[in-house]
Amino acid sequence: MRKKIVAGNWKMNKTFSEAEDLVFGIADELASDRPEDVEVVICPPALYLEMTSDVATENNFSCGAQNISEHEAGAYTGEISAAMIASAGASYVIAGHSERRSFYGETDALIARKVKQALKHGLIPIYCCGEVLEQRERNLHFEVVGQQITEALSGLTAEEFSNVVIAYEPVWAIGTGQTASPQQAQEMHAYIREMAGKIFGKEAAAETTILYGGSCNASNARELFANPDVDGGLIGGASLKAGDFVKIINSF
Ligand code: PGA
Repeated sequence: MRKKIVAGNWKMNKTFSEAEDLVFGIADELASDRPEDVEVVICPPALYLEMTSDVATENNFSCGAQNISEHEAGAYTGEISAAMIASAGASYVIAGHSERRSFYGETDALIARKVKQALKHGLIPIYCCGEVLEQRERNLHFEVVGQQITEALSGLTAEEFSNVVIAYEPVWAIGTGQTASPQQAQEMHAYIREMAGKIFGKEAAAETTILYGGSCNASNARELFANPDVDGGLIGGASLKAGDFVKIINSF
């Protein structure tokens, strides 16, 4: 179902006590100031999921992991399964973030398996796609994102796809302070919806939640979220300060 979502991706930041301060800080700020129709998702490091989910349950937000294993269980040292993430109280998982693609060699074939695994355990995957700067400069961005979507998601049934959230994150905008313009975000989101329509049908595409990510912050969120095909944001740096994150949530 199409929803407004603001999700915070903490990446590899915060010690346990800092994470607690941030989660409680966000809960406090949300208590006084929050639009009712926006789902808030916090994606801390997996180690803090249980703590985050306890606070989330009491304060009407959700939590998610940043990654999962493509395997069910067994001898995969260092990995964390979808079942473990779900049992820690998470309901979302980020899949295919560009940092996992570039630093850990994740391909769309692998990400497709992670998406399936997430869905099997009732987790909502936030599937990330987006082009690098060189691809945009060569005007290949639509082709690249189209191919990512096809490779990672076209093996899903329409019912499975109805539980997937897509995040468009142009790699050149992540952590750089250089946000996509509202026009650039809108045209890519519309294209992603059109692609989803070709694979799963128009109705399914109209119901898909598509988030923007990449240097989205308290000053530019309003302009980005005002676009008809932008259903919210996946926020990195600006989700590490309770005040900034809640301002973004209130930008709808
Ligand atoms: P950023 O990161 O907001 O710091 O650019 C977004 C993301 O990587 O999800």
